[in-house]
Amino acid sequence: MNLWQDFLTNDQKIIHKWVHYFPIYERHFSGWRNKSLTFLEIGVSRGGSLQMWQRFFGPLAKIVGIDLNPECQEHESPGIFVRIGDQSDHSFLQSVVDEFGIPDIVLDDGSHQMNHITSSFQFFYPKMPKNAIYMVEDLHTAYWEEYGGGLEKPNTFINIAKDYIDRLNADHTRGKVTPDLITRETFGISFYDSIVCLEKGEVFWKQAPMIGGQSEFV
Ligand SMILES: C[S@@+](CC[C@H](N)C(=O)[O-])C[C@H]1O[C@@H](n2cnc3c(N)ncnc32)[C@H](O)[C@@H]1O
Repeated sequence: MNLWQDFLTNDQKIIHKWVHYFPIYERHFSGWRNKSLTFLEIGVSRGGSLQMWQRFFGPLAKIVGIDLNPECQEHESPGIFVRIGDQSDHSFLQSVVDEFGIPDIVLDDGSHQMNHITSSFQFFYPKMPKNAIYMVEDLHTAYWEEYGGGLEKPNTFINIAKDYIDRLNADHTRGKVTPDLITRETFGISFYDSIVCLEKGEVFWKQAPMIGGQSEFV
């Protein structure tokens, strides 16, 4: 069963997701099915998405949810762990990492406040291993004032991620952009309606050889 079918036929705890996210989840998360991984979702709410992720990733997945609301603690079950705290509180996030390890995938479906999104990203992303995935959803809020958003505001996660495009390409900017963690530890950045997804990885080999006929590889 794919994730979309699972969502449509869910009769367990309530899941709250936009329908067009399902092909995006499938695209980025499918390679992790039936592997040992730590999946961390920011925002537990009624617990249904944690159950869905457990069905999707399989029995080797450690599913960790964090939420500000203490009532979310009730959504723990075998293989699903819930910890209560603020996604922008780095000491809380550190306690989660100390207990469960660095997540292989983070899905931010928490407060959707721009400062919280950035704070969680800044905590997790540098620590995450190669091939890890950091996905932020519901980024329509990046355009909404009540979430700290706004088209021209430099600190929305959409505008920060636009800047990451130049940082990803820093090696080609003839010194205009200094390579940094985004340059050295990011394989790709994907933009969708309301979602930004970063894949960690190292592009260490930057050559464009012409191969074929008598040419030599240099
Ligand atoms: C959109 S709901 C999560 C929905 C759930 N992931 C799903 O798909 O069914 C957002 C959740 O984020 C939690 N939240 C709000 N602010 C937060 C914060 N600063 N830190 C952690 N969680 C927060 C809320 O309590 C709420 O349960």
